[in-house]
Amino acid sequence: MPHANKKMKGIEVPGTRQFANRVEEFPGAVDLTLGQPDFETPQPIRDAAIEAINTKSMKYSHNTGLLELRQAISDYYQSIYGADYNPNGEVLVTVGGSEGIDGILRAILDPGDEVLIPAPTYLGYEPIIELSGGVTKFVDMTETDYIATPELIESNITDRTKAVLINYPTNPTGVTYTKAQMDALVGVFKKHDLFVITDEIYGENTLEGEHISLASYPELKEKALIVNGLSKSHAMTGWRIGYVVGHKEIMEDVTAVHLYNTICASIPSQYAAIEALTTQLHVPKEMNQAYIKRRDYIYERLIDMGLEVSRPTGAFYIFPSIEKYERDSFKFATGLLETVHLAVVPGRSFSEYGEGHIRLSFACSMEELIEAADRLEKYINLLEAS
Ligand SMILES: Cc1ncc(COP(=O)(O)O)c(C=O)c1O
Repeated sequence: MPHANKKMKGIEVPGTRQFANRVEEFPGAVDLTLGQPDFETPQPIRDAAIEAINTKSMKYSHNTGLLELRQAISDYYQSIYGADYNPNGEVLVTVGGSEGIDGILRAILDPGDEVLIPAPTYLGYEPIIELSGGVTKFVDMTETDYIATPELIESNITDRTKAVLINYPTNPTGVTYTKAQMDALVGVFKKHDLFVITDEIYGENTLEGEHISLASYPELKEKALIVNGLSKSHAMTGWRIGYVVGHKEIMEDVTAVHLYNTICASIPSQYAAIEALTTQLHVPKEMNQAYIKRRDYIYERLIDMGLEVSRPTGAFYIFPSIEKYERDSFKFATGLLETVHLAVVPGRSFSEYGEGHIRLSFACSMEELIEAADRLEKYINLLEAS
């Protein structure tokens, strides 16, 4: 039988999926592996898509997306971050943030090029980097409260570094960056000849303070590639709409990858996205009110259980240490699932620097969260008694 690309051998099913897939084995299990809002897409957004299906052309759009949507994205960046992104050439509508990440990495990487990624991190990047012939270099953030500091980034930059890729608010740690922290990082980025890719898909899910987008640094425009989308902000994971903004020169190449990959994003979904970015900009803040209540609840419960944990200021994840019970997070998560039927994601799914932790998603109902906390406490009590 013919063989797949040799690089496929190193590509595994992500830990998130491995545990989510096992939930079915345990009827009545509580599932906190979820990486998507528990809310449903607001009705006006759905209505806009239905209306479009009935009244608009459903042929391919321009490869970069419908002009009306690109304009809405450009307006969003202008009004919130004061950033200029020309809808013609500097905005690309993609199939979720995922396709944006794929397009960027394939467009910029030559074999052997390194990408620095502060870790623990979302693991959607490494397989694409490897398939593109690049090299992933995780940078350990465990000693800096999971914040990428200028010193840590700069000391890892070499001649081979093609890009730094930062996701914030961060999956799985829930950290956000202050203006001072971003200013300091931008100082480093300005000095070096590299791309800076920010995955800001949780930008609207900033639970405290303000999201400081890389877009608000015009001096970095030629190096910056920003990934965003509606999956998390508007509970639209299934619609598959994301986007990339960046300088027109590199965006031409990112667009070329996208063009050969997908031609264009789904047209009904693009119409839904126009509605989300024009009349529904208030939605994320409303959802955040619920996330904040749940975050406060689960944080207090984890502290009461005696677990070491930071209070997340963004996204909808919390990342307690379970090291005092078990360093091997896969072993801990397996025991938790098999004993008290609670599914979480082992920290090692987010690189080796996530080991000794578990990720709990609070994008679930308050009832589920209460039940999950009770089960975790029960499991910990069992471990302490044994
Ligand atoms: C950090 C991060 N980036 C990107 C994605 C993928 O987003 P999308 O569903 O828009 O492709 C996720 C999904 O969980 C994520 O956590």
